[in-house]
Amino acid sequence: MENDKKMDLTHHRIGVFDSGIGGLSVLKELLNVFPEAQFYYYSDDAHAPYGPKSDEFITERSFKITKELLDQGAEMIVVACNTATAASIDALRVNFPFMTFVGVEPYLNAYYKETTPSKMAVLTTESTGKSERFKRLKERLDPNGFIDNFSLKNLARMVEEFYYDPGFESAFDRQLVEELLPLQGKNYTHAILGCTHYPLVKDKIEKILKLKALSPCPYVAQRVRELYVKPGKNLSAASTEFYFYSSSKPGWTKKDRENYLGPFKK
Ligand code: DGL
Repeated sequence: MENDKKMDLTHHRIGVFDSGIGGLSVLKELLNVFPEAQFYYYSDDAHAPYGPKSDEFITERSFKITKELLDQGAEMIVVACNTATAASIDALRVNFPFMTFVGVEPYLNAYYKETTPSKMAVLTTESTGKSERFKRLKERLDPNGFIDNFSLKNLARMVEEFYYDPGFESAFDRQLVEELLPLQGKNYTHAILGCTHYPLVKDKIEKILKLKALSPCPYVAQRVRELYVKPGKNLSAASTEFYFYSSSKPGWTKKDRENYLGPFKK
């Protein structure tokens, strides 16, 4: 694939990565709140999904991707993946101490933000659900065990496949109903989406489970802007594109900011 990336020094450069296209749910919010920045999105689809992989493997990939994003001049890196955040953000911060990393975590504090104490579920990948970081977060934010965790084996992969092959929506919908079966009949009022692939199909999840789905992505984007934009910092004009790298077809390509969400565009 042609590498049409040239280092863009006129914008502030922010790297974003995920195992695949899940992090586009974070990028979408970043483009809303921080249109002046230039984004370099790395999709590690040659190694997706991360959910069934070991922490060592995911950490090794996170290091490699970070180096690539640094080569593109990234001044901040958003780990737009709950699984990679759980497995590797501590190691990233130790090994690249000059870099600011912003991660994504299952948004368990949502429980206290909703008006009535309600029954909630948190949906994660297998790796996130088993991780020490998630266990600590849950002990801290949900000491009374109000939130039930469901580790979904297939959903990230299904969303990834649907993005590239959107012609099979009814087959996708059927698989989604099946994947969500363990949550049926439990009367949850809310589901926290603890994997960045899931907000891309938020409407479908809400419809099937008849609940409200909660995504941390807008808060992550807001946090990035707060950390980046200090008083007195000059911002360049908004860019109309961003750069995209897919590890299964290596090389940076430009993408239009209007047209990158495929079947998930509303
Ligand atoms: N989108 C990712 C997450 O937030 C990873 C999903 C996967 O690759 O299993 O967890």
